[in-house]
Amino acid sequence: MLILWLIALVAASPIQQVLNIGKAFNIVDQDDDFHPDIVNKTTLDSWISDQYNVSWINLLKNIGNSSYTQDENLYPGVIVASPSKIMPDYYYQWTRDSALTIRSLIHYLQDNSHDSPFYEEFQLLVEYYIWNNYHLQRLTTKSGDFVTGKTLGEPKFLVNNLPFDLNWGRPQSDGPGLRITSILSFIKLNLDSVTGLNSTFIFNEVIKPDIYYVINNWTNDSFDLWEEINSLHFFTSMVQFKGLLDAWNFISDNNIEIDNVFANEMSTAIANMRKFIQIYYVNDKVNYVLESPKLFPKRSGLDAAVLLGSIHTHDMLDNQLDDLVPFNVDNTYILNHLLYLINDMRARYPINHNLKFTFGEKPHGVGIGRYPEDIYDGYGTTEGNPWFISTATASEMILKYIYKLVNDKQDLIITKSNLEFFKLILNLGDNDLLIVKYDSDDFKNLVNRLLEFSDSFLIIIKNHVDAHGGISEQFNKYHGFMQGARDLTWSYSSLLNAFRWREKIKKLIM
Ligand code: NOJ
Ligand code: NOJ
Repeated sequence: MLILWLIALVAASPIQQVLNIGKAFNIVDQDDDFHPDIVNKTTLDSWISDQYNVSWINLLKNIGNSSYTQDENLYPGVIVASPSKIMPDYYYQWTRDSALTIRSLIHYLQDNSHDSPFYEEFQLLVEYYIWNNYHLQRLTTKSGDFVTGKTLGEPKFLVNNLPFDLNWGRPQSDGPGLRITSILSFIKLNLDSVTGLNSTFIFNEVIKPDIYYVINNWTNDSFDLWEEINSLHFFTSMVQFKGLLDAWNFISDNNIEIDNVFANEMSTAIANMRKFIQIYYVNDKVNYVLESPKLFPKRSGLDAAVLLGSIHTHDMLDNQLDDLVPFNVDNTYILNHLLYLINDMRARYPINHNLKFTFGEKPHGVGIGRYPEDIYDGYGTTEGNPWFISTATASEMILKYIYKLVNDKQDLIITKSNLEFFKLILNLGDNDLLIVKYDSDDFKNLVNRLLEFSDSFLIIIKNHVDAHGGISEQFNKYHGFMQGARDLTWSYSSLLNAFRWREKIKKLIM
């Protein structure tokens, strides 16, 4: 059955080209320096320089046909969430994890020149990823089929590209939006395809179905990114909106002809979604964004998903586009969200109790979990723990905030509404409302404090990864040892994203 299916696939679809290319690439420098046995945890910088390489290698091990994978079962471009097959079984490809992970590779292509060590390989892997998604989109799954488009809400697939047929939290409607944004950011690089892809094909066959999915489903409940609650969610709405907006801009920048009905549907959805997001996810009882408003106040609405929703819809590199998406990283409701998550989790997780800034008495960044009410321990349900993804995301969000502050060249105004956040890093009293002039010494001091604050989250990660730089999903809230799925692809990806922003900030403020 499998063999028959394979033959049909090879004969019928453009994936043939992918399979033919095979493992032609092995261009990454594989000497000992590149892959240290033990990561040097002496200082944050020594650790980052080792952990950067280890993270890439371990991430690549989880991608089919990469130079580092030893797993022959992964089809080309398949990104497995974790190699762990039991306790827990994460040996699947999730649409969300893959769309986010592929962004780390695309960032590398954006930031580096063509002769950089990973360049050719990453371009190829992204192209495999696109071909692979072209195939996955067309599978009939428990979420539905391709004709109605419902199958695009399917959250996960087997690594050999067969549908996953057991019960699960489905649909999960963040996938199509995430995928649109990831793939468009690759197309914008305008590279000569090595697998016979072209932008018209990608737009019509891969992006357009996802656009329709978002247009038809954004008002419907779906399971959240943590796969637990069927409702409307900030993260989901944000990435859906961003996907449509990116597609809209791509259409107009490239004079792509679309029919009037489609154009109308898209622009109406974009306008309605923006209004909806701005109203629905805030509530006059609290001054932070709510992740799943229908559950409030039973659930606090505090959730690392909100931070993820903000950073993954604002890439900071295109101000005009970023301004069209609400809730950027400098939004008070987003900054407050980080503040309240920190406060909650400082108290909630015993390993956070004694953390202090090394340079003063101010609170240190803390290990951040998914959300206060979480009881998933990585294997089953007991008590929640801090997660690597969430902690790296806190670091990245602060770095992006610095980037925005410095690039906007605006004075920073500390008022009642953001005072509590700034108390995390500055010695401020309850009535200290001030204007920090752009580029003044105070401004530079503030930027440095923010950078130290962001680093303090990375130091926590450094303390909990294993001696070889291996990273799982969570670290135990009592003793700090890692638990949950080992070598979680998304953990490496989120850490690499934070490293990337740290580099950018260091260059910017040097
Ligand atoms: C429950 C967890 O909370 C959820 O995030 C996870 O995806 C599933 N179990 C499957 O492991
Ligand atoms: C559980 C997480 O909650 C979910 O977001 C993720 O997609 C899967 N694990 C796979 O990593």
